[in-house]
Amino acid sequence: MNLISSRDIFYVICDILRKLDPKVMNHGLRTAYLLYKMMQCKKKYEDFEMADLCMIAVLHDIGTYKTDYLSDHLRYESRDSKAHSLYGYLFLLYLTPLKDMSKMILYHHTDFESFPEREYEYAEMTGWLNVAEKMDIYQNAMGSKFDYTMFQKQAGTKYSADALEALYQAQKKFDVFGKINSGEFKNELSELFDNLIFTNEFKRDLLISTLYLLSFRSEAVMKDTIITISLCISFAEKIYISNEESENLYYAALLHDVGMCAVPTEIIESGRKLSEEETRTLRSHVSVTESILRGRIDQDCLDMILMHHERCDGSGYPHRLRDYQMSKPAKMLQVADSIAALINPKGSKEPKSKEAIIKILEMEADAGKLNSEIVRTFVNFYDKMMENVDADLRAFLADYNDLQNDYNVKISQ
Ligand SMILES: [Fe+2]
Ligand SMILES: [Fe+2]
Ligand SMILES: [Fe+2]
Repeated sequence: MNLISSRDIFYVICDILRKLDPKVMNHGLRTAYLLYKMMQCKKKYEDFEMADLCMIAVLHDIGTYKTDYLSDHLRYESRDSKAHSLYGYLFLLYLTPLKDMSKMILYHHTDFESFPEREYEYAEMTGWLNVAEKMDIYQNAMGSKFDYTMFQKQAGTKYSADALEALYQAQKKFDVFGKINSGEFKNELSELFDNLIFTNEFKRDLLISTLYLLSFRSEAVMKDTIITISLCISFAEKIYISNEESENLYYAALLHDVGMCAVPTEIIESGRKLSEEETRTLRSHVSVTESILRGRIDQDCLDMILMHHERCDGSGYPHRLRDYQMSKPAKMLQVADSIAALINPKGSKEPKSKEAIIKILEMEADAGKLNSEIVRTFVNFYDKMMENVDADLRAFLADYNDLQNDYNVKISQ
């Protein structure tokens, strides 16, 4: 798959999470760096293994986006760690191709002596992750009073003695805490992530995971995206575009609204008429999406994404492009995204009837806003395409719903 590199998929994920909350992401990056340098002191890991493990370290608090008040970092990282550890674990298990390493997240707050699964492939590294992330939390909370040797008393009980030893070596050899304070660590970490290399299947699955990241901001956006993907697949089957365009269109549909992660949920889901300022904030999701994807994803795919709110008569945003400046697949994405908004209304609005949806789309086509061939195709195949939408919603949401149920059962145990 030439659409995007393995490393850049990971960076897109990081950027989405950073927009949701930069503090959690920065803590993840610092933790990953500590773990990386600790592993380097052991010398038994290949670069690609360290890159994979550090990717999990960056994501180790991913559950907090769902379960916690993000401002209260110390609270969920010390007293109430169960919710985010459990949700993060289940998120990786159900919704990503990172299943093998998901238990590292489940147990990242577990004391070394009470770790329940010694046979787990990544048991040792889970203890190391625990030490790396605790060091970062304490260093941040204590500032100049922080002394990395203060955990020695708990070596072998609360913390892995091996991990503490590796940390001491890493500090002596690389001055890891100094590099963190100066910000220099970021370059080293990005060199490490150049070693991320996934199979095509893994890349596809990891890209699909971005869909579920949207649920941290708004389940409605996640659903809109699934509907848009489904309709784009149908359009690509019924109206001729090349195989390459059709693949780009699929990923454009998948990623077109990732910038919504920077828009407050109240604005996305308000369902009422927005003020001018709120409208500006909502519309900014296109430039946020661009900032996340530019230079990383195939240019044709990016162009489709950035045009999804443009209209053929020049009345769209952000650039008021006109019909002749846009490709057929870009116009398919415009129609699909418009239909998704009608099928899946926000706030307390009722979904529209078939007749109302067709009427609105035909008016938009007659006014020269939406491409009329694409709208006509939807109208002609309405029932079949809506059946596909329902089936795709069920398929994409099955694992997501299982995750929620599993979480609700396990959190009360
Ligand atoms: Fe953490
Ligand atoms: Fe945590
Ligand atoms: Fe959008």
